[in-house]
Amino acid sequence: MAVKLKADGIIDFVQESEIELMEPQAKLAIQLLKEAEQKDDNMVGWHTLPKKLNSNNIDEILESAECIRKLADVFIVIGVGGSYLGARAAIELLKSQFYNYEHTPQIYFVGNNMSPSYLNHILSICKNKEICVNVISKSGGTLEPTLAFRAFKNLLEAKYGKAEAKKRIFVTTGIKKNNLLNLAEKEGYKIFKIPANIGGRFSVLTPVGLLPMAVAGIDIWQIIFGAKKAFEDLQSDDIAENHSMLYAAYRNCLYKKGRRIELFASFEPDFEFFFKWCQQLFAESEGKSGNGIFPVPAIYSTDLHSIGQFVQESGQALFETFIDIENTEDENEYVVKKELVDYDNLNFLADEKMSCINKMALLGTISAHTKGRVPCIMLNIPRKSEQEYGYLVYFLEKSCAISSYMLGVNPFNQPGVEEYKTRMFELLRGKQEE
Ligand code: PA5
Repeated sequence: MAVKLKADGIIDFVQESEIELMEPQAKLAIQLLKEAEQKDDNMVGWHTLPKKLNSNNIDEILESAECIRKLADVFIVIGVGGSYLGARAAIELLKSQFYNYEHTPQIYFVGNNMSPSYLNHILSICKNKEICVNVISKSGGTLEPTLAFRAFKNLLEAKYGKAEAKKRIFVTTGIKKNNLLNLAEKEGYKIFKIPANIGGRFSVLTPVGLLPMAVAGIDIWQIIFGAKKAFEDLQSDDIAENHSMLYAAYRNCLYKKGRRIELFASFEPDFEFFFKWCQQLFAESEGKSGNGIFPVPAIYSTDLHSIGQFVQESGQALFETFIDIENTEDENEYVVKKELVDYDNLNFLADEKMSCINKMALLGTISAHTKGRVPCIMLNIPRKSEQEYGYLVYFLEKSCAISSYMLGVNPFNQPGVEEYKTRMFELLRGKQEE
């Protein structure tokens, strides 16, 4: 179990000596992370979280997950940003994008937008179904999940009555007093608390992510095991050993050379939501005061047929970070059949596995893009599993913190997000006064 950075696709763009020059900055970033941990109101609880997770916190999650699995045909997860992306990413990556067609309870994510038609569709899917709800909001006051929770609280109370609804509502929220926590305490809902020193986008290994994952039948102990291993492996501040530092150094080096956009790319569509989680992690942590690398998810080969042209010939501001799974072979995978008449000229691929064809597409793309002057970083994981997910999450969280400090920004706040909220509430309140 590991995440290894492979530099073959960047050697033409970044010299080893340049990375050596970056090492002191990466070391300083680790020092800043350790110093932040000493402060009372720090936001770096995620850093030592893996070693603190034990049966006291996990058994409670497993018990509620079991109860939800027994009670519900449909499980509604309400949350936005860091309060839903990690769980959805894990379910799609470790189960499948088609989870809801293959498993129960079906899991729907709401409260991550304010579209009336999106909400209506999910409400109508819930008709005549047994429902449980997990509302997740650290602040307990974000508009999108708060509105969606009103709708589902109304639905559950109308369908089951208050007493039964209470057994079907699970609340994950911050420790600090907030409206959601007040309501949950008053109504007697089951409450999971998010530690004060873990921010939304770093909270996937808390009940925020672990409860929905457990409901989906994901082995959360294995996730924690993977994160613990990453925690231990990434203690070193030797850049050659610690690839979370190395990744941060390459990103910063490329940024200094004018590469301001990072495409997170994979040839596995199941990575779509994982990349949305990465996008939030890096964009909200780094994009401050005119700094930051803009992260964009890309699923290949699908997106090669849309953005591939741009990347190949106009990618001077880009670099790509590929997440490659070493072993994607599956004993049930499709093997190309030989046709009697070679109507599509593909008989040369007869007996080839889809995993081999997909791998060649990856290698061909990296070769083409590097020739088109786009640096390609490769983060390699051995296989797709719970342990690797836990490892990868922790690896990226640590890289992101190091990289942000190297850029000279505080990774753990997001002052810019308030601007749209202020203006939206001004408009909403103005409308009320009209
Ligand atoms: O990283 C963050 O802090 C944010 O993206 C939050 O996760 C997001 O805004 C949701 O906030 P809350 O959980 O308070 O509803």
